[in-house]
Amino acid sequence: MSQPPIGVLGAMDEEVRRLREALLPTRVETTGGRDYLFGSIAGREVVLAFSRWGKVAAASTATTMIERFGVERILFTGVAGAVDPALGIGDVVVARSLVHHDLDARPFLRRFEVPLLDIVEIPVDERLARAAADAAAEVLDADLDALVPPADRRRFSMERPTVRRGLVASGDRFIADAGEVERLRTDLPGLLAVEMEGAAVAQVCHEHGVGCAVLRTISDRADHSAPVDFRAFVADVASRFSERLVQRTLERLEPSG
Ligand code: ADE
Repeated sequence: MSQPPIGVLGAMDEEVRRLREALLPTRVETTGGRDYLFGSIAGREVVLAFSRWGKVAAASTATTMIERFGVERILFTGVAGAVDPALGIGDVVVARSLVHHDLDARPFLRRFEVPLLDIVEIPVDERLARAAADAAAEVLDADLDALVPPADRRRFSMERPTVRRGLVASGDRFIADAGEVERLRTDLPGLLAVEMEGAAVAQVCHEHGVGCAVLRTISDRADHSAPVDFRAFVADVASRFSERLVQRTLERLEPSG
C-alpha cells in the first residue's frame, strides 16, 4: 500500500525553486493561489509548496496539504533571525517547540497561550525533527565546502556552522531591531530564533494530529543589519541548504513512514 505523501513547505520562493529541481514534479495542482507540486525525493512521495510569508499564509497552505492532499507529516524549511547570541549566520536551528511571540490574550489567558489548546509551546514530531537535526549535522560536517564555497562563507561571515535544537518563535513581523530581540530574550527564556511561519504550521499540524518539523537556517541577527544580509543570503546559501537538508532528512526517515 502506498504511504501518504510528506508535505514540504518553504517560506521563500528561492528555496522552493531549488527543491522543485530535486522533485521533478509529475503533477501540479493549483488552489488558493498556490501551486502544490507532486513528485518524489529520496524515494518518498512528496507534496511541495511555497507557503508565502506570514502565519496566515503558512497556516492556510499547511491546512490545504492536510485536508486536500492527505499529508501525514509536514517539514517546514526556511530562514530565521538569531535571538540566542551564540548563534551565527549559517547555523541551523531545528525547533524543539514553537511559540507565537505576538499572541497575547491577557487577561483571559497566559501571555503567548494558544486559545483553547491550553499550551504556550507547540510541540513538534520528535522523530521527524531528530531526522532533520541529524541530517543537518551530517550535511554541515561533510558537504559544507561543496554547498557554500569558502569565498561565500567569508562574504556572509559564516564560521563553522552548527546545529541547535530549541525554542523558535513566530510572529507576523520581520524583526530588525536589537531592542526587540532583547525583549524577546527576556520574555521567552531559552529562545533560539525568530521567524514568521513555524508556530502557525505547528499549530495546524497539532490540531490535525499531523507530525511537524521546522528547520531554519540563521540568515541574520534580527537587528538593524537584518534586511541587508537577508536576500543575498537566501539566494546564495539558504536555498542550497534547504534543498540538501530536506533531501537528507527524507533519506533518514524509516521506510514504513
Ligand atoms: N526570518 C529571517 N530573519 C527574520 C527576522 N529577522 N525576523 C523575522 N523573520 C525572519
